[in-house]
Amino acid sequence: MAIHMGLARLLPRPAVRPASVPLPGETQVIALANQKGGVAKTTTTLNLGVAFAEQGYKVLLIDLDPQGNLTMSQGLNPDTIEKSMFDVLVHRLPIEQVIETVEVDIAVSSIDLAGADMALSSQIGRERALDKALAPIRDEYDFILIDTPPSLGLLTINAFVAATGVLVPVQTEYLSLRGLVQLENTLAMVRENLNPKVEIIGIVPTMYDKRVTHSREADEILRESFGELVYNTRIRKTVRFAEAPVKGLSVLAYEPAGDAARMYRDLAKEVLSGQKSRQHA
Ligand SMILES: Nc1ncnc2c1ncn2[C@@H]1O[C@H](COP(=O)(O)OP(=O)(O)OP(=O)(O)O)[C@@H](O)[C@H]1O
Ligand SMILES: [Mg+2]
Repeated sequence: MAIHMGLARLLPRPAVRPASVPLPGETQVIALANQKGGVAKTTTTLNLGVAFAEQGYKVLLIDLDPQGNLTMSQGLNPDTIEKSMFDVLVHRLPIEQVIETVEVDIAVSSIDLAGADMALSSQIGRERALDKALAPIRDEYDFILIDTPPSLGLLTINAFVAATGVLVPVQTEYLSLRGLVQLENTLAMVRENLNPKVEIIGIVPTMYDKRVTHSREADEILRESFGELVYNTRIRKTVRFAEAPVKGLSVLAYEPAGDAARMYRDLAKEVLSGQKSRQHA
Protein backbone atom coordinates (compact mmCIF):
# COMPACT_ATOMS: atom_id res chain seq x y z
CA MET A 1 0.00 0.00 0.00
CA ALA A 2 1.49 3.27 -1.13
CA ILE A 3 0.25 5.37 1.77
CA HIS A 4 1.62 3.12 4.38
CA MET A 5 5.14 3.06 2.93
CA GLY A 6 5.37 6.81 3.36
CA LEU A 7 3.89 6.74 6.83
CA ALA A 8 6.44 4.52 8.45
CA ARG A 9 9.20 7.13 8.40
CA LEU A 10 7.04 9.88 9.71
CA LEU A 11 6.93 9.64 13.40
CA PRO A 12 9.89 9.26 15.67
CA ARG A 13 9.77 6.10 17.73
CA PRO A 14 11.63 6.83 20.92
CA ALA A 15 12.84 3.74 22.73
CA VAL A 16 11.05 4.71 25.92
CA ARG A 17 7.76 6.47 25.91
CA PRO A 18 6.83 8.61 28.89
CA ALA A 19 4.07 7.23 31.04
CA SER A 20 1.22 9.67 31.43
CA VAL A 21 0.60 9.24 35.14
CA PRO A 22 0.87 12.74 36.53
CA LEU A 23 3.38 13.14 39.32
CA PRO A 24 2.16 15.23 42.23
CA GLY A 25 2.06 18.81 41.04
CA GLU A 26 2.46 17.85 37.41
CA THR A 27 -0.49 18.38 35.09
CA GLN A 28 -0.88 16.48 31.84
CA VAL A 29 -2.37 18.74 29.20
CA ILE A 30 -3.52 16.55 26.33
CA ALA A 31 -4.72 17.96 23.00
CA LEU A 32 -7.07 15.64 21.11
CA ALA A 33 -6.41 16.44 17.49
CA ASN A 34 -6.97 15.28 13.94
CA GLN A 35 -7.81 17.74 11.18
CA LYS A 36 -10.10 15.16 9.64
CA GLY A 37 -13.70 15.65 10.75
CA GLY A 38 -15.81 13.06 12.53
CA VAL A 39 -13.04 10.75 13.79
CA ALA A 40 -14.22 10.83 17.45
CA LYS A 41 -12.09 13.66 18.86
CA THR A 42 -15.00 15.02 20.88
CA THR A 43 -16.27 11.59 21.92
CA THR A 44 -12.77 10.64 23.08
CA THR A 45 -12.22 13.92 24.95
CA LEU A 46 -15.40 13.46 27.00
CA ASN A 47 -15.23 9.73 27.67
CA LEU A 48 -11.50 9.55 28.34
CA GLY A 49 -11.86 12.55 30.65
CA VAL A 50 -14.70 10.93 32.59
CA ALA A 51 -12.72 7.66 32.76
CA PHE A 52 -9.76 9.54 34.31
CA ALA A 53 -12.16 11.16 36.79
CA GLU A 54 -13.48 7.70 37.76
CA GLN A 55 -9.89 6.79 38.65
CA GLY A 56 -9.84 9.72 41.08
CA TYR A 57 -8.04 12.27 38.93
CA LYS A 58 -9.17 15.89 38.79
CA VAL A 59 -10.11 16.63 35.18
CA LEU A 60 -10.82 19.74 33.13
CA LEU A 61 -12.15 19.49 29.57
CA ILE A 62 -11.75 22.43 27.21
CA ASP A 63 -14.06 22.87 24.23
CA LEU A 64 -11.94 24.66 21.64
CA ASP A 65 -14.25 23.90 18.73
CA PRO A 66 -16.72 26.55 17.48
CA GLN A 67 -19.15 23.69 16.72
CA GLY A 68 -19.51 23.32 20.50
CA ASN A 69 -20.10 19.57 20.32
CA LEU A 70 -18.26 18.83 23.56
CA THR A 71 -20.27 21.53 25.35
CA MET A 72 -23.49 20.04 23.93
CA SER A 73 -22.49 16.50 24.81
CA GLN A 74 -22.60 17.53 28.48
CA GLY A 75 -26.11 18.89 28.07
CA LEU A 76 -25.11 22.57 27.79
CA ASN A 77 -26.42 24.80 25.01
CA PRO A 78 -23.69 26.75 23.16
CA ASP A 79 -26.34 29.12 21.77
CA THR A 80 -27.35 30.44 25.17
CA ILE A 81 -23.86 30.63 26.63
CA GLU A 82 -22.84 34.21 27.35
CA LYS A 83 -19.12 33.87 27.97
CA SER A 84 -17.03 31.20 26.34
CA MET A 85 -13.48 30.23 25.40
CA PHE A 86 -13.71 33.02 22.79
CA ASP A 87 -13.70 35.62 25.57
CA VAL A 88 -10.91 33.75 27.35
CA LEU A 89 -8.67 33.69 24.28
CA VAL A 90 -9.50 37.03 22.72
CA HIS A 91 -10.45 39.23 25.69
CA ARG A 92 -8.38 37.46 28.35
CA LEU A 93 -11.38 36.70 30.53
CA PRO A 94 -10.18 34.46 33.40
CA ILE A 95 -10.91 30.87 32.34
CA GLU A 96 -12.65 30.10 35.69
CA GLN A 97 -15.51 32.25 34.44
CA VAL A 98 -16.35 29.87 31.60
CA ILE A 99 -15.93 26.60 33.51
CA GLU A 100 -19.14 24.66 34.22
CA THR A 101 -19.19 21.53 36.35
CA VAL A 102 -21.18 18.65 34.94
CA GLU A 103 -19.70 15.10 35.06
CA VAL A 104 -16.33 16.85 35.13
CA ASP A 105 -15.29 20.51 34.78
CA ILE A 106 -15.71 21.87 31.27
CA ALA A 107 -14.62 25.21 29.78
CA VAL A 108 -17.37 25.90 27.28
CA SER A 109 -17.44 26.93 23.65
CA SER A 110 -19.89 29.05 21.69
CA ILE A 111 -20.23 29.88 18.02
CA ASP A 112 -18.23 33.11 18.64
CA LEU A 113 -15.15 30.92 18.64
CA ALA A 114 -15.47 30.74 14.86
CA GLY A 115 -14.17 34.31 14.86
CA ALA A 116 -11.23 33.63 17.17
CA ASP A 117 -8.74 32.92 14.37
CA MET A 118 -9.40 36.35 12.88
CA ALA A 119 -9.58 38.18 16.18
CA LEU A 120 -6.34 36.63 17.41
CA SER A 121 -4.41 36.93 14.16
CA SER A 122 -3.34 40.52 14.76
CA GLN A 123 -2.37 39.95 18.40
CA ILE A 124 1.20 39.45 19.52
CA GLY A 125 1.55 36.04 21.12
CA ARG A 126 -1.58 34.79 19.36
CA GLU A 127 -0.37 31.17 19.52
CA ARG A 128 0.07 31.34 23.29
CA ALA A 129 -3.33 32.69 24.28
CA LEU A 130 -4.55 29.33 25.63
CA ASP A 131 -1.28 28.48 27.36
CA LYS A 132 -1.42 31.84 29.18
CA ALA A 133 -5.09 31.39 30.08
CA LEU A 134 -4.35 28.00 31.65
CA ALA A 135 -1.43 29.15 33.78
CA PRO A 136 -3.44 30.30 36.84
CA ILE A 137 -5.54 27.10 37.09
CA ARG A 138 -3.25 24.45 35.64
CA ASP A 139 -2.09 23.14 39.01
CA GLU A 140 -5.65 22.50 40.18
CA TYR A 141 -6.00 19.62 37.71
CA ASP A 142 -4.28 16.29 37.03
CA PHE A 143 -5.54 16.18 33.46
CA ILE A 144 -6.63 18.94 31.11
CA LEU A 145 -8.05 17.54 27.86
CA ILE A 146 -8.51 19.90 24.93
CA ASP A 147 -11.01 19.11 22.16
CA THR A 148 -9.93 20.78 18.92
CA PRO A 149 -11.80 21.59 15.69
CA PRO A 150 -11.21 19.58 12.49
CA SER A 151 -8.48 21.89 11.18
CA LEU A 152 -4.86 22.78 11.88
CA GLY A 153 -5.68 26.47 12.28
CA LEU A 154 -4.83 28.85 15.10
CA LEU A 155 -7.17 27.24 17.65
CA THR A 156 -5.49 23.86 17.21
CA ILE A 157 -2.04 25.47 17.26
CA ASN A 158 -3.01 27.11 20.58
CA ALA A 159 -3.88 23.64 21.89
CA PHE A 160 -0.49 22.26 20.72
CA VAL A 161 1.37 25.12 22.41
CA ALA A 162 -0.45 24.56 25.72
CA ALA A 163 -0.18 20.76 25.54
CA THR A 164 2.27 18.34 27.12
CA GLY A 165 1.15 15.72 24.60
CA VAL A 166 -1.15 15.09 21.66
CA LEU A 167 -3.52 12.18 21.39
CA VAL A 168 -4.77 11.39 17.90
CA PRO A 169 -8.04 9.55 17.31
CA VAL A 170 -7.96 7.88 13.89
CA GLN A 171 -10.92 6.28 12.22
CA THR A 172 -9.98 2.84 10.96
CA GLU A 173 -10.27 3.53 7.25
CA TYR A 174 -7.54 4.18 4.65
CA LEU A 175 -8.29 7.80 3.94
CA SER A 176 -8.01 8.67 7.62
CA LEU A 177 -4.40 7.56 7.78
CA ARG A 178 -3.10 10.11 5.29
CA GLY A 179 -3.89 13.15 7.41
CA LEU A 180 -1.34 12.05 10.00
CA VAL A 181 1.50 13.25 7.77
CA GLN A 182 0.23 16.81 7.77
CA LEU A 183 -0.56 16.68 11.48
CA GLU A 184 3.00 15.62 12.30
CA ASN A 185 4.42 18.37 10.03
CA THR A 186 2.41 20.98 11.90
CA LEU A 187 3.56 19.55 15.23
CA ALA A 188 7.17 19.69 14.05
CA MET A 189 6.74 23.41 13.34
CA VAL A 190 5.24 23.97 16.77
CA ARG A 191 8.17 22.09 18.37
CA GLU A 192 10.67 24.23 16.49
CA ASN A 193 9.12 27.57 17.33
CA LEU A 194 6.75 27.41 20.25
CA ASN A 195 6.71 24.26 22.40
CA PRO A 196 9.83 22.08 22.05
CA LYS A 197 8.45 19.18 24.08
CA VAL A 198 5.09 18.54 22.49
CA GLU A 199 4.71 15.22 20.69
CA ILE A 200 2.17 12.58 19.83
CA ILE A 201 1.73 10.41 22.93
CA GLY A 202 -0.63 7.96 21.29
CA ILE A 203 -2.92 7.07 18.44
CA VAL A 204 -6.40 5.67 19.17
CA PRO A 205 -8.12 3.61 16.49
CA THR A 206 -11.81 4.53 16.53
CA MET A 207 -15.05 3.28 14.96
CA TYR A 208 -13.42 -0.08 14.53
CA ASP A 209 -15.58 -2.85 13.11
CA LYS A 210 -13.90 -6.23 13.10
CA ARG A 211 -16.53 -7.68 10.73
CA VAL A 212 -15.43 -5.24 8.03
CA THR A 213 -12.23 -6.25 6.19
CA HIS A 214 -11.41 -2.65 5.35
CA SER A 215 -11.56 -1.67 9.02
CA ARG A 216 -9.29 -4.57 10.05
CA GLU A 217 -6.78 -3.74 7.32
CA ALA A 218 -6.68 -0.05 8.19
CA ASP A 219 -6.04 -1.01 11.82
CA GLU A 220 -3.18 -3.30 10.73
CA ILE A 221 -1.60 -0.61 8.55
CA LEU A 222 -1.82 1.84 11.43
CA ARG A 223 0.01 -0.60 13.72
CA GLU A 224 2.66 -1.47 11.10
CA SER A 225 3.31 2.19 10.45
CA PHE A 226 3.28 3.65 13.93
CA GLY A 227 4.22 0.73 16.12
CA GLU A 228 3.94 1.29 19.83
CA LEU A 229 2.32 4.68 19.40
CA VAL A 230 -0.95 2.88 18.64
CA TYR A 231 -2.92 1.84 21.72
CA ASN A 232 -4.01 -1.78 21.99
CA THR A 233 -7.48 -0.57 22.87
CA ARG A 234 -9.62 -0.16 19.78
CA ILE A 235 -12.77 1.89 20.17
CA ARG A 236 -15.35 -0.19 18.36
CA LYS A 237 -18.32 1.10 16.43
CA THR A 238 -21.49 1.17 18.54
CA VAL A 239 -24.60 3.28 18.50
CA ARG A 240 -24.14 4.05 22.23
CA PHE A 241 -21.72 6.82 21.25
CA ALA A 242 -24.47 8.60 19.34
CA GLU A 243 -27.13 7.96 22.01
CA ALA A 244 -25.28 9.18 25.11
CA PRO A 245 -24.63 12.81 24.03
CA VAL A 246 -28.32 13.27 23.25
CA LYS A 247 -28.91 12.72 26.98
CA GLY A 248 -26.03 15.03 27.82
CA LEU A 249 -24.01 12.14 29.21
CA SER A 250 -20.73 10.34 28.72
CA VAL A 251 -21.09 6.64 27.83
CA LEU A 252 -19.71 5.90 31.31
CA ALA A 253 -22.71 7.62 32.90
CA TYR A 254 -25.18 6.50 30.23
CA GLU A 255 -24.44 2.80 30.47
CA PRO A 256 -21.81 2.30 33.18
CA ALA A 257 -21.47 -1.45 32.69
CA GLY A 258 -21.66 -1.36 28.89
CA ASP A 259 -19.00 -2.17 26.30
CA ALA A 260 -18.65 1.46 25.23
CA ALA A 261 -17.80 2.52 28.80
CA ARG A 262 -15.37 -0.37 29.19
CA MET A 263 -13.46 0.56 26.03
CA TYR A 264 -12.77 4.08 27.31
CA ARG A 265 -11.81 2.75 30.75
CA ASP A 266 -9.33 0.45 29.02
CA LEU A 267 -7.97 3.34 27.00
CA ALA A 268 -7.62 5.46 30.15
CA LYS A 269 -5.58 2.69 31.79
CA GLU A 270 -3.33 2.46 28.77
CA VAL A 271 -2.78 6.21 28.60
CA LEU A 272 -2.00 6.20 32.34
CA SER A 273 0.54 3.43 32.08
CA GLY A 274 2.21 4.83 28.96
CA GLN A 275 3.92 2.39 26.71
CA LYS A 276 4.23 -0.50 29.12
CA SER A 277 0.84 -2.00 28.57
CA ARG A 278 1.30 -1.70 24.83
CA GLN A 279 4.45 -3.79 24.91
CA HIS A 280 3.17 -6.48 27.20
CA ALA A 281 -0.33 -6.89 25.86
N1 LIG B 1 -16.94 4.38 18.35
C1 LIG B 1 -17.98 4.96 17.74
N2 LIG B 1 -18.94 4.22 17.15
C2 LIG B 1 -19.98 4.78 16.54
N3 LIG B 1 -20.17 6.12 16.44
C3 LIG B 1 -19.24 6.92 17.00
C4 LIG B 1 -18.10 6.40 17.68
N4 LIG B 1 -17.37 7.44 18.14
C5 LIG B 1 -18.02 8.56 17.76
N5 LIG B 1 -19.14 8.26 17.09
C6 LIG B 1 -20.11 9.19 16.49
O1 LIG B 1 -19.52 9.73 15.32
C7 LIG B 1 -19.80 11.11 15.19
C8 LIG B 1 -18.50 11.90 15.18
O2 LIG B 1 -17.86 11.78 16.43
P1 LIG B 1 -17.18 13.04 17.13
O3 LIG B 1 -18.12 14.20 17.12
O4 LIG B 1 -16.64 12.60 18.43
O5 LIG B 1 -16.01 13.29 16.08
P2 LIG B 1 -15.07 14.57 15.97
O6 LIG B 1 -13.75 14.09 15.45
O7 LIG B 1 -15.06 15.33 17.22
O8 LIG B 1 -15.85 15.40 14.84
P3 LIG B 1 -15.50 16.91 14.39
O9 LIG B 1 -14.28 16.80 13.54
O10 LIG B 1 -16.72 17.35 13.63
O11 LIG B 1 -15.27 17.70 15.63
C9 LIG B 1 -20.71 11.46 16.36
O12 LIG B 1 -22.03 11.38 15.94
C10 LIG B 1 -20.42 10.37 17.38
O13 LIG B 1 -21.52 10.13 18.21
MG1 LIG C 1 -15.53 17.31 17.55
